[in-house]
Amino acid sequence: MSKLVVNGSRRLSGEVKVQGSKNSTLPILAATILCSDECVLYNCPRISDVEASIRILRYLGCTAHRYENTLVINTRDMSRYDIPQDLMHQMRSSIIFLGVIIARCKRAKMSFPGGCELGPRPIDLHLSALRQMGIDITEEHGELECVAENGLKAAKIALSFPSVGATENIMLAAVTAKGTTIITNAAREPEIVDLADFLISCGAHISGAGEGTIIIDGVEKLKGTTHSIIPDRIVASTLMSCAAVTHSDITLKGVIQSHLTSTIPIFEQSGCEINFDKGVMKISSPYKLRGAKLIRTMPYPGFPTDEQAPIMSLAAVSDGITVFVENMFESRYKHVSELCRLGANIKVEGKVAVVDGVKRLLSANVTALDLRGAAALVVAALCAQGRTEISGIDFLERGYEDFEGVLTNLGADIKKV
Ligand code: EPZ
Repeated sequence: MSKLVVNGSRRLSGEVKVQGSKNSTLPILAATILCSDECVLYNCPRISDVEASIRILRYLGCTAHRYENTLVINTRDMSRYDIPQDLMHQMRSSIIFLGVIIARCKRAKMSFPGGCELGPRPIDLHLSALRQMGIDITEEHGELECVAENGLKAAKIALSFPSVGATENIMLAAVTAKGTTIITNAAREPEIVDLADFLISCGAHISGAGEGTIIIDGVEKLKGTTHSIIPDRIVASTLMSCAAVTHSDITLKGVIQSHLTSTIPIFEQSGCEINFDKGVMKISSPYKLRGAKLIRTMPYPGFPTDEQAPIMSLAAVSDGITVFVENMFESRYKHVSELCRLGANIKVEGKVAVVDGVKRLLSANVTALDLRGAAALVVAALCAQGRTEISGIDFLERGYEDFEGVLTNLGADIKKV
C-alpha cells in the first residue's frame, strides 16, 4: 500500500495548470454511448475514476484509447448492456451509465452501486425519474434489471433534491427519448453545463443547463464530436488551500472564475488576496490567517461539499473559530480524527464541525479514508512541522492527477513511497 511522505512548513511558489474536471469527464464518458461515431475528449485527467469508466466502456464492447490527456472513444461496436458487480463497485458513480445504456439498448442490468466512504449513496431520485420515462425497473438480490421495450418517453420530472447524478442520468436518458423532457429543481453545477455542451455539440436539443429548469427535446440520434473538458474547480480550490496554509504566492492556470464564486470569499475572509486575469488566478497568502467563521455546504452555486475537507485544513491553522455545517452527505467528517492527530482542535456534533484554529500542526502518521479527506491531509501535512506519512492514498488518486508531482513542482517536499 503506497503512501505519501511530506516534510512540511515549506513555502510554495510557481505556477500550475489545473487538471480537467473528474466530475465532468465521468458523465461525458457515459454520454459517448449515445454517439454513433468517434468522440475525442481533450483535457481528461489521468485519475483512477476515469480509468474505471474506461474499463466499463471496454467491457461493454466500446473502444477507448488514451494519448496523454486526450481520450478517443468509439462506442459503435457496443455489444453488452450489463455492468458486473466488480466494475460497479470500483466507482460508486458508475450509476451514471444507467440512463445511457437503457437509451441505447432498451435494457440495462447492473448491481446496486454500493454505498461509499461518504455514507449510503441512495439512488431513489434516479430510479423514480427513469420509471417516469417508461422504464420498468426491478431491484432484486442487489441487482437492477431495467427494461423499456417501447423505448424511452419524455416526462416532466420535478426533483425533490437537485441531485447532480440524477440530473445527469435524466439528461442522458432524455436526449434521444420521444418528446420534450422538462427537469425542474435540476442541479446547476458547472459539470451539468459541460455535459449539456458536449451533448449539444453531438446534436442534442437542450436548454436551461446550469439553471433550475432544463428542457430537452429528444432527437433521433447523436453524432460524434470533439470536446475539451472544463477545469476541475475542486482541484483548483484544493491548490488554493495548499497555497494558503503555506503562506505562499502561486499562480493557477486554466481556472474559470465563475466556478469559484462561493469559494473565493472564504479565502479572502481568511486574509488571502486573489487576482484573476483571463483564466489565470494569482493567490497570495498572508502570514496570519483568519478563520472564515461559518461555512455551510449547499448545492451549487452554494459552497461545494467537495471543498469542505481541504478547507477544514486551512481553518485548522487559522486564527479563531470556524463552524462547518455539512448539509450534503451524512458522513463527510472522516478526516477530522486524522487532522486531530496532527494537532488540530476540531469537535464534531452531527453535521456540525467546530474548528478552533491552532498556531501550528505537528507531523504524525495519518490515514486517508475518502477522496477529499485524503486531499485535506495533504494540505495539512504541507504546513505541519516535521515529516508526515499519509497512507490510503489510493483515495487521492481517484480524483487528483499526479498530485505529488504538481506539489513538487511548486516546491513542496512530498514523495510517494
Ligand atoms: C456528485 O455526486 C459528485 N460526484 C460528488 O463529488 C459531489 O459531492 C456531489 O455530486 C454533490 O455535489 C460526481 O459528480 C461523480 P448528489 P452525486 O446526487 O451525484 C442524496 C467527489 O468528491 N441523493 O448530488 O452522487 C445523496 O445521498 C464526489 O468528487 C439521494 O438522496 O451527488 C446526497 O446526500 C463525492 N437520492 C445528496 O443527495 C438520490 O437518488 C447529493 O447527492 C441521489 C442523491
